[in-house]
Amino acid sequence: MHISLAIALSLAILHGAVAKDLRSVSEPKIPAACTSLQGTGKEETAVIQKALSSCSKGKAVHLASGTFVSGPLTIPSGVSLWVDSGAVLKASTNPKDFDEGKNTCGTLDNDGKGCKPFITIKGATGTGIYGKGTIDGQGGQTMTGKGESWWQLARDAQTKKKKQNAPRLIQIENSKDITLYLITLKNSPNFHVASKSTNGFTAWGVTINTPGTARNTDGIDPMGSQNITIAHCNIATGDDNVAIKAGNAPTKHVSILNNKFGVGHGMSIGSEVNDGVSDVTVTTLTLDGTTNGLRIKSDKSRGGLVSGVTYTNVCMYNVKNPIVLNTQYSSSGGSHIPTFKGITFNNIKVLTAGTFTFDGISDSNPVEATLSNVHIKSGSKWVTSHAKISGKYAEDASGNSC
Ligand SMILES: *[C@@H]1O[C@H](CO)[C@@H](O)[C@H](O)[C@H]1NC(C)=O
Repeated sequence: MHISLAIALSLAILHGAVAKDLRSVSEPKIPAACTSLQGTGKEETAVIQKALSSCSKGKAVHLASGTFVSGPLTIPSGVSLWVDSGAVLKASTNPKDFDEGKNTCGTLDNDGKGCKPFITIKGATGTGIYGKGTIDGQGGQTMTGKGESWWQLARDAQTKKKKQNAPRLIQIENSKDITLYLITLKNSPNFHVASKSTNGFTAWGVTINTPGTARNTDGIDPMGSQNITIAHCNIATGDDNVAIKAGNAPTKHVSILNNKFGVGHGMSIGSEVNDGVSDVTVTTLTLDGTTNGLRIKSDKSRGGLVSGVTYTNVCMYNVKNPIVLNTQYSSSGGSHIPTFKGITFNNIKVLTAGTFTFDGISDSNPVEATLSNVHIKSGSKWVTSHAKISGKYAEDASGNSC
């Protein structure tokens, strides 16, 4: 064993840190149905919400087949939604249905908080969304009463330096033991899944399939949450495939296992890490066609400590920036200084040339990383500044697919 690795491991043991979800997580099971509904293709918010609100705990509302169109839904504590194969649950395209009360949903402003999510799970324990069916956010469809789609609105926000008011697809908040299993999520107008202040969250066998051009459509974002497992998922989207954030509370004990990422901005931590991110394990991941691969990003307005992050068995193909540890992601100033240490790369294979960046704040606060068995393609760029890197990489990667 490498000496520095041995030291890192013994420090981890001393501190009692375990770099993974502390729960023992196994493949979820779909709960029994409390009721079964057939989609008519028409708007059915009230029907679905009534079924969810009257379903007994431990059971699921079963969307058996057909197309359902709905405005915002809330899944109560202990109750689940089961979208069966062939069934499609589509979000309404009418911004008025999602408006938070200020008549701003579907418009641009300075805070972008004017829309309710499509599906809300809040203050719940043991709630889930299951099944081989599809939840479609219809982000590319023209909004009712407007001349553009949610995604075009998000593009306008970028050029006009404003924020778009567009619904997230699934918002999980202040909850415990939440499960997403087998479901396909697509075309979210905004983030697909955000789990905020939630302890115990599993996404297993989930597919996210949204165009790479759809702005701000993060795949799965654990925020200020603990005991997280994201396993056997396929994620392609227009922003971070996964982004671990800690802007409101620490995020720790995260396991990202056996996943495949297509287009997107990669496996990210940040940019908000004020309250610290630690004990993260990313094992067996393929990234094909993402702009970034393994990225930790922050700046002085939202930095904090990111430590105990281990990436193992990662293969990348056609990734522009395979590894990015960037403490100066934007020029924003402030006193929240990013510190990245105990970042380990084990068995990494990058089959196409790209740019590798290790960019710390200062020599007294460098990014600290350990490399072991890192194989990259010749012709790659390796850029370091204020970085303490132990171990080596080899420019000997070959092969045409992961
Ligand atoms: C994480 O899971 C472990 C094991 O089940 C549990 O002891 C711990 O309390 C959980 N952490 C949180 C913050 O819920």
